Amino acid sequence: MAENPFLIKNVDALQVLDSRGDPTVEVIVVTTGGGVGRAIAPAGASKGKYEAVELRDGDPKKFCGRSVLKAVENVKQFLGPAIQGLDSRKQREIDRALIEVDGTKNKSRMGANAILATSLAVAKAAANTAKIPLFVYLGGVRSRALPIPMLNIINGGVHAGNELAIQEFLIVPHNFDSFSEALRAAVETYKNLKNYLKQRYGASAINVGDEGGFAPPMKRTEEALEAMMKAISMAGYEPGKDIALALDAAATQFYDEEKDVYRIDGKELKPAELLRYWLELIDRYPIASIEDPFHEEAFDDFAALVRESKGRIFVIGDDIVVTNIERLRKALQHGSVTGVIVKPNQIGTLSETLDFIDEAKARSIVTVISHRSGETEDTTIAHLAVAVSSIFIKTGAPARGERTAKYNELLRIEHLLGTEATYMGKLVKLPNVS
Ligand code: PGA
Ligand code: ZN
Repeated sequence: MAENPFLIKNVDALQVLDSRGDPTVEVIVVTTGGGVGRAIAPAGASKGKYEAVELRDGDPKKFCGRSVLKAVENVKQFLGPAIQGLDSRKQREIDRALIEVDGTKNKSRMGANAILATSLAVAKAAANTAKIPLFVYLGGVRSRALPIPMLNIINGGVHAGNELAIQEFLIVPHNFDSFSEALRAAVETYKNLKNYLKQRYGASAINVGDEGGFAPPMKRTEEALEAMMKAISMAGYEPGKDIALALDAAATQFYDEEKDVYRIDGKELKPAELLRYWLELIDRYPIASIEDPFHEEAFDDFAALVRESKGRIFVIGDDIVVTNIERLRKALQHGSVTGVIVKPNQIGTLSETLDFIDEAKARSIVTVISHRSGETEDTTIAHLAVAVSSIFIKTGAPARGERTAKYNELLRIEHLLGTEATYMGKLVKLPNVS
């Protein structure tokens, strides 16, 4: 009998760069059948306190303390040898082995960056050995719906050098027949926004932030929302009906714990005042979702927004839930979220990411598969979104190579599916849009 071609023959790792010029971990897995899988770990800037730990060397002489040579060595010395000879299709067994080698609850010994890149490279090697695309390998024949992209076209918070407290102002092109049509509308809106910003605020307003969105010198939330409404109309679309708005407040970043206030738009708002502000904004604008509206421990304030918004928006948890099943259960007990961000590097393995998605779906929680602000050419999340039939994907503006890499991969997937492809925007009705 011929040898099983899916066995893991070789695991290698090296240090490469992410979109901020920070070093990160790339892992290459090769199977006995010659299948190759290559994956790179992304990195966040507005990270949640409960995320799995990214290992950095901290040597000020190397990459200003940001090198990941220890994590790379961990793949070569410990993680690789632990999975060598295993069947690359046994993702759960492999992920368990990686978790065991690490031995900590937050993956701090081997590093979640080392573990995630290894875990994803294994899945890609298995798919490559089977000669099928990753989304087919992960999702099978039912995977044919392209996600609705949430495109971050104005950057603030820690992703930009301006005074906007809110981190992400997103457009959500939903009323389109296909993913490619939706993406085209998003690009047209982005281009019109660029013209508008240049005219209104001058040439420096079209500099872009970490995720490719513009970082104009605005001070107030409404300025950004008005600019997006204008850009959508200028592009020939109807705000709300065709293209909705969404926010990622990333509120932990502008929360002052000592005074229990949020610093936004030159004001200091108590949690109850911020709640009222969110409710006012969703009355005035076609905002379909707000991510991290309060800080990462504010389960009850999140729940108040879920209650008071009465299903008019998705209340999405990122830093509060961190792709962690235990945090999700806690959030659900409190009624804190109706949607969740899914970032594989927040938890550190593919199996745990899939379990998290399954649990969210079983509880009717909407999923947003998401990039990080520090990204690379790795396109795994595009495949993951289609594989699990996620309603949304969040992967930045339609600009900067590390962002367009994901959009381009989704276009390739749509092309490959041909007439079988469908668009989530056609299957799902967004709240608060007409
Ligand atoms: P991060 O930001 O990757 O810097 O954490 C993305 C987000 O908050 O959604
Ligand atoms: Zn977020």
